[in-house]
Amino acid sequence: MATTVAPSDAAHPHGSTRRDFLFLATGAGAVVGAAALVWPFVSSMAPDAETIAAGAPIEVDLSPISEGQIINVFWRGKLIFVRRLSAKEIEDMKAVKMGDLIDPAPYYARVKEGHDQWLVSYGNCTHLGCVPIGHQGNFEGWACPCHGSQFDAVGRVRRGPAPINLPIPPYAFQGDAKVRIGEGAAA
Ligand code: FES
Repeated sequence: MATTVAPSDAAHPHGSTRRDFLFLATGAGAVVGAAALVWPFVSSMAPDAETIAAGAPIEVDLSPISEGQIINVFWRGKLIFVRRLSAKEIEDMKAVKMGDLIDPAPYYARVKEGHDQWLVSYGNCTHLGCVPIGHQGNFEGWACPCHGSQFDAVGRVRRGPAPINLPIPPYAFQGDAKVRIGEGAAA
C-alpha cells in the first residue's frame, strides 16, 4: 500500500512549511506512509509495489490537484513531481528568456501540448540528488536545501550548483484528468 504518493507543500505557496521540515527530518518513507492516509484515492490507482518495482507505468488521478499544487509520486523507486501550474505561473514561465537559463529549454519543451498546465518531472536535484522543496526560492519553483540550487515552476535550473534541469520522465495523458507515468515519450 505504501507505494506511490506523498502530498506536498503546495497548499503553502509562501515560505517553508512544517511538512517541508518533516519531509527532511523523517525521510521519504515516513512521508509516503502519511500520504497514504491523506490521498488514498490516488495511491489506489497505482499497481502493487512489486509491479511498480518491475517498471510498470503508474496512473495518477489529476482531478484532486488544485491550481498551484504539487504532489509527489514514485515510479521505479524515483521521486516524481506532478505540478498543476497556475495561470500566473504559466505566464511567468513562458516569459523567461532563454539567455537567463542555465540549461535553456522553452516552456513547451517542459510540458505536453494540450496539457501545458501540468509539469511532470523527476524530483531529485541534478546536483547530488537531494529533494528540493516546492514553492521555495526566487523562481516560483523549488529550492534545494543542501547546496542552494533553485528551479523554476517547470523544473528548469535557475541557480546552481545543479547543472541541468529536472529531467522529464516518459508520460502520457489519458484524457484531461489522468496521466500514466512510465508510458509514452518524455516531454
Ligand atoms: S543536491 Fe541540490 S544543490 Fe546540492
